[in-house]
Amino acid sequence: MNVLVINSSPRMERGGTALLVDVFLQGVKEAGAQSEVIYLQKMNIKSCLSCFSCWVKTPGMCPQKDDMTDLLPKIESADVLVLATPVFVDGMTSRMKALLDRTLPLLMPFFEIRDDHCRHPRRGTSKQGKIVLLSVSGFTELDNFDPLVHHIQAIAKNMGREYAGALLRPIGATIPVLKHMGIAVDDVLTATKQAGVEVVQEGRISEGIMQIVSREIVPREAYVKQVNMMFQRQLDAQKPE
Ligand SMILES: Cc1cc2nc3c(=O)[nH]c(=O)nc-3n(C[C@H](O)[C@H](O)[C@H](O)COP(=O)(O)O)c2cc1C
Repeated sequence: MNVLVINSSPRMERGGTALLVDVFLQGVKEAGAQSEVIYLQKMNIKSCLSCFSCWVKTPGMCPQKDDMTDLLPKIESADVLVLATPVFVDGMTSRMKALLDRTLPLLMPFFEIRDDHCRHPRRGTSKQGKIVLLSVSGFTELDNFDPLVHHIQAIAKNMGREYAGALLRPIGATIPVLKHMGIAVDDVLTATKQAGVEVVQEGRISEGIMQIVSREIVPREAYVKQVNMMFQRQLDAQKPE
């Protein structure tokens, strides 16, 4: 089994998204699967031109020559496709959206009714694998992920892939800081790793594991206070003497 992680965080290895990805992949490895991580920040992926050449002129191939040429076959052959993105303006990053727009060559132009819904048939070569969403947010509430979850679930259906669950971590980037402060986060990290094991062994992430990954780590009011103090310090440091 192969697991392809596409990480769209501009902060790449330094981000909370990467932290979660790393721990998740420890579980994937432990369960015996192969994995690869792609950082979209390092890739040259142009926006879709909406020319429909990939459907009617050069079926399955985009006329734009950029890093998508190498990436598309990897997406096509992944048993598990992990879309890893921070919440940006209540959704996925623009890089992730650009990438997903460019997966149109994996579909055929025709319309069909599937699951009582109008969709495009998958091109013969593309795999009927799984999709996992992995995301971190800056805000504290779990409902900040709602638009993203609905979006990825819809994408999974249109791609003909099974939605296998989501690792959603509010205030995700602060986990190392919280750990340093002595606040207990080990269960969150252990559950993230277990999610990797479950995806490989069961083909999905269990509800209980998803809940632990998303659980409240610090009370909201205390967190808001700390964040505001940090930003105030940074602003004060910019002031002339
Ligand atoms: C342009 C931009 C938009 C953001 N929008 C949201 C948002 O709508 N909701 C939210 O909870 N966090 C938002 N954030 C915070 C990020 O989700 C948070 O900083 C996250 O940890 C970034 O991921 P990273 O640590 O992998 O870089 C935004 C950050 C940026 C830079």
